[in-house]
Amino acid sequence: MAILFLPLFFFVFFNSILYSHSSNNNIIILQPTHRHHHTSSSSSCPAPNPNLYYQSVIGIVTHPGDGASGRLSNSSAVSNIPASYVKFVEAGGARVIPLVYNESPQKLLKKLDLVNGVLFTGGWAKDGQYFETVRRIFKKVLERNDGGEHFPLYAICLGFELITMIVSGDNNILEEFSASDQASALHFVENADIEGSLFQSFPPDLLKKLSTDCIVMQNHHFGISPEKLLNNKKLSSFFDVLTTCKDEDDKVYVSTMQSRNYPVTAFQWHPEKNAFEWGSANIPHTEDAIRVTHSTASFLVSEARKSSKRPDAQEVRDNLIYNYSPTYVGKAGKGYDEVYLFR
Ligand SMILES: *[C@@H]1O[C@H](CO)[C@@H](O)[C@H](O)[C@H]1NC(C)=O
Repeated sequence: MAILFLPLFFFVFFNSILYSHSSNNNIIILQPTHRHHHTSSSSSCPAPNPNLYYQSVIGIVTHPGDGASGRLSNSSAVSNIPASYVKFVEAGGARVIPLVYNESPQKLLKKLDLVNGVLFTGGWAKDGQYFETVRRIFKKVLERNDGGEHFPLYAICLGFELITMIVSGDNNILEEFSASDQASALHFVENADIEGSLFQSFPPDLLKKLSTDCIVMQNHHFGISPEKLLNNKKLSSFFDVLTTCKDEDDKVYVSTMQSRNYPVTAFQWHPEKNAFEWGSANIPHTEDAIRVTHSTASFLVSEARKSSKRPDAQEVRDNLIYNYSPTYVGKAGKGYDEVYLFR
């Protein structure tokens, strides 16, 4: 009998040691009477800022094709959103409504009225209906801001390239660069005006590492050099260049730019990949690289919370990405890991 109870005895004995150790150091904070010295009720949490909207939704424009090199579908009618962009927005604390690029303009505009910000993804399509849809939505983003609503846009990789074409009004403005499938640091331009930008919201230690460590992912063949951007009146009056990078041939391209007058940030790098894509061994997954994903996502949603739009909750739910399921296509060992398909 004694032998059977011995383990129980030690369990109780050591627990009591742990417990008394804790209370000696005032670590026990579970008793309600010891919490909230100034108030006794549990309703002491201050109401969140009533000027901000904590149910914000980001619209992501779908991209032509299945996002899986035809492994899911070869239909010219399908479009996709790589799930990494959806997870990116969710990690920032918002939900996603897909803006299917080849739906009717009326349907698209209706969905655009349900969101508090927009994201243009990476990809390759630069013409046809996709380009026209992106152009129309970009115009709407500016209009809504002009109308007094804070309505942010993140334009990532292809998105960066498309709004460079749209703002300049020159579809041939892009230059070729060799920056496919590589991690890099960001070079902050001299006197970069980071106030109110994405980078101002970065933790100071991470901001420092951005310019020294290879914690952002590059994957593009096109871009624009700082010279070309500055020599183009439409671009230089619209955008502030914040960072540049060098490609494999030491050619310098603009890697982050922000609109001077609109909450529009353009990335020639991939904040969403660090935490959510695994198809290339070159994607950085260090703790700092993951923090880059989260800080960048957090800034987008903090901007969307300033949107004054309060759409009908049921209409939002009816259109959320949760009405769709992503498909795992990363088993091929390349490309995106998961994609949402729209037919
Ligand atoms: C798409 O086309 C490719 C090449 O012809 C083919 O190998 C693939 O099976 C097709 N995909 C589907 C889903 O049918």
